[in-house]
Amino acid sequence: MTTEQRTSIHGQWSTRMAFILAATGSAVGLGNIWKFPYIAGENGGGAFVLVYLCCIAAIGVPIMMAEVMLGRRGRQSPINTMATLATEEGRPQFWSLLGWMGVLAGFLILSYYSVIAGWALSYVFRTASGMFVGATADGVGSIFSQFIASAESLLAWHTIFMVATMIIVARGVQHGLEKAVRYLMPLLFILLVILVFYSMTTGYFSEGLVFLFTADFSKITTGSILIAMGHAFFTLSLGMGAIMVYGSYLPKDTSIAKASMIIASADTVVALLAGMVIFPIVFANGLEPGAGPGLIFKTLPIAFGQMDAGVLIGTLFFILLVFAAWTSAISLIEPAVAWLVENKSMNRIYASVWIGIATWFMGIGTVLSFNIGSNVKWLDKTFFDLLDNLTANIMLPLGGLFIAIFAGWLMREQSSRDELASTEKGYVIWQILVRYVSPVAVMIVFLNAIGVF
Ligand code: TRP
Repeated sequence: MTTEQRTSIHGQWSTRMAFILAATGSAVGLGNIWKFPYIAGENGGGAFVLVYLCCIAAIGVPIMMAEVMLGRRGRQSPINTMATLATEEGRPQFWSLLGWMGVLAGFLILSYYSVIAGWALSYVFRTASGMFVGATADGVGSIFSQFIASAESLLAWHTIFMVATMIIVARGVQHGLEKAVRYLMPLLFILLVILVFYSMTTGYFSEGLVFLFTADFSKITTGSILIAMGHAFFTLSLGMGAIMVYGSYLPKDTSIAKASMIIASADTVVALLAGMVIFPIVFANGLEPGAGPGLIFKTLPIAFGQMDAGVLIGTLFFILLVFAAWTSAISLIEPAVAWLVENKSMNRIYASVWIGIATWFMGIGTVLSFNIGSNVKWLDKTFFDLLDNLTANIMLPLGGLFIAIFAGWLMREQSSRDELASTEKGYVIWQILVRYVSPVAVMIVFLNAIGVF
């Protein structure tokens, strides 16, 4: 079969816009609104943000293009796509291991992602109940601490989120996702803009901006550069096959370069807006920018408690955040589900349920790491911290590195040219980035972080 005739057994996006929406849905999630502000806060702000932005442009966009391209050419789950392309390009079969590492990374990420999404879900109801109206920063902080101290509550919300994810994945990712993203993402964006206006009224807006956008390089360490790079992968959903599997449902006539740039820009704007909302609130209330994973839950409710129509806006905000998390969660298990359907002739329903149950079990570790097991540490990190580090800072960049090497060096130029169908200039720029810039940058950051130089 030629690559022209190859189609995915899982279906295809109805329009090119559907792909952009689905991939944006995957990219925009807890990574932008929950994770970006707290890691920026922990790593000193501006300089970290600058490194992150450079990583998005120089590593993220070219690797996203490579991932979509491989997916569209292979038209299967990442494991089988890599196996097929390796054969076609005359490379060893072990390239399918890249797909396997992605499946493992997706499973591990979803196990904690679902727990945090559960927090957001519970905050829908907390905000709606009016419990934050007029609350002080201390009050909001202690509500959060009490909440995460209860393993039972965290487990319950994690369970609800996981079940919801399983149901959608079982139905097939193409159904309904497009509409959810088309209407809900712009709404989330509007709410963030409203919140930025609120932050302007705190009197600490400029402090927030200075923190986010003035680069003080004395605050940056090799460790924080690794975190910034890891987050570029995480926030764009790269390095584990999620974008590859979405690419496998992409019609042939879509421009991969344009789509990738739209997705990366939308993702970056959402993250920066979230930062512009959070930090003024942090400084206005004398909170710590480095407060860790609870940061948005300790800051946003203060705003919702003070602003006009805060209950409504706050409730809507957390609903949309849960939706954003949901459209991301789906993409984390799609590679594994697609593989089970292809190779084990399982139907989508069984495949989703099995993977969902396994992920749910794994999530218990994260649930406990915030309460009963918060003192169980290894290398001074809790279970959640270890998982997050292992996946975002090691597995995803490693996956991205191999994707870049395969797409840039091992695939015949004719194949990638054919698939990308860019202008000559566009192609050459991509080739330089994916051959030299991205892999070298990833390797330097890695070697640096483990102390080689
Ligand atoms: N990008 C999502 C976020 O920012 C999370 C996510 C979805 C993800 N799919 C992924 C991260 C694949 C890494 C790999 O919230």
